[in-house]
Amino acid sequence: MTPATPRLALYVHWPFCRAKCPYCDFNSHVADEINHARFAAAYRREMEHMAARHGGDRQLETIFFGGGTPSLMPPWLIAGIIEDADSIFGFAPGIEITAEANPTSCEAALFSGFRDAGVNRLSLGVQSLRDDGLAFLGRDHSASEAMTALRAARHVFERVSVDLIYARQGQSLADWHSELGMALDLGLDHLSLYQLTIEAGTHFYSRARRGEILTADDALAADMYEATGRIMDEAGLPAYEISNHARPGAECRHNLVYWQAEDWLGTGPGAHGRISLGQRRRGLATRRSPIGWLEAVEADGHAIETSVDDGPEDAVAERLMMGLRLASGLDLGSLASRFGDLSGLIDMSARDELVAAGLLADDPKHLRATEAGRLLLNRILAALLPAG
Ligand SMILES: C[S@@+](CC[C@H](N)C(=O)[O-])C[C@H]1O[C@@H](n2cnc3c(N)ncnc32)[C@H](O)[C@@H]1O
Ligand code: SF4
Repeated sequence: MTPATPRLALYVHWPFCRAKCPYCDFNSHVADEINHARFAAAYRREMEHMAARHGGDRQLETIFFGGGTPSLMPPWLIAGIIEDADSIFGFAPGIEITAEANPTSCEAALFSGFRDAGVNRLSLGVQSLRDDGLAFLGRDHSASEAMTALRAARHVFERVSVDLIYARQGQSLADWHSELGMALDLGLDHLSLYQLTIEAGTHFYSRARRGEILTADDALAADMYEATGRIMDEAGLPAYEISNHARPGAECRHNLVYWQAEDWLGTGPGAHGRISLGQRRRGLATRRSPIGWLEAVEADGHAIETSVDDGPEDAVAERLMMGLRLASGLDLGSLASRFGDLSGLIDMSARDELVAAGLLADDPKHLRATEAGRLLLNRILAALLPAG
């Protein structure tokens, strides 16, 4: 069986936010002045470089504007990037174009501009539907402002997803039930539900180092995760990935490109890309600093700072790491069609032990973590991947 040509996606990173949230370690910055025209020209040049050097003459299946806060981009800038991407790469029929947005009133006023620019899916970072939760997370919007933005988004876009963060300090299981219930009452078909994690380098990290407890304890967090799965199953939006829930057919196609280890290019400060080269995999990353990125693109046509070619062992490890996050797991047949004999790459005897331990499903055609296994992915990976 010849391996299918991987689909190609494009990630566009917008590195600015109105304020820095205390839990967030994304590459985001607060700036007084932003030269949008300079950014527009730089995205165009970097896309041209990426397409010519790494695109492999494929059309784009999806685009994702992430950040940072892409909803702070003027609609003309988003429209220009989409137009440029179309003329540089070409679009596959039915392309999915997602933008992340913060649910403040200023941004809600721009939603129809984003739709007219070509965005057809909005991912709203609501984070909490309670004012105390939002204050704890240091967000600059209220719950009612988020609800208004959500209604505006649903009016403008057919596909709207909401991000919520749970397992926050002081949040009870009953609180989370009711917050999730409120989100489900909105009738959305996609929800990303993340457990609060304390990331190095954030304000929360410094507070946690000083001894403050900012997250739910492990037992409560596990109960919340389990309740989330049950509630979302009952609502008809099962988890298709550890933190992502959708009505069947409404999954985010862009994120599936990452989890199925297909190909994507990343443009903008600190954007990552991964491209298949037969059994090898090339990892690309651009300069993180917004000004450093602009200057590099203006000087060299791109700001790629690292380009690393992985061998088959790392490429298989990536597929396992990503694929085991998915409810559907990994298809062993398609893995073998790309990498040939898998026996030196995956420890199949460990697989039988993981099935016996209830961490992998007993499915000869797939490597698929059970619900219990999805909480212990590191253990599964350590067992399946030969030490090296
Ligand atoms: C790129 S970020 C945010 C996009 C947008 N700027 C916003 O804040 O709404 C994507 C999502 O990651 C989640 N996130 C970020 N930091 C997190 C953390 N420390 N723990 C859990 N979820 C986190 C949030 O739900 C957030 O909406
Ligand atoms: S959570 Fe969103 S708004 Fe807050 S700093 Fe991170 S990227 Fe910016």
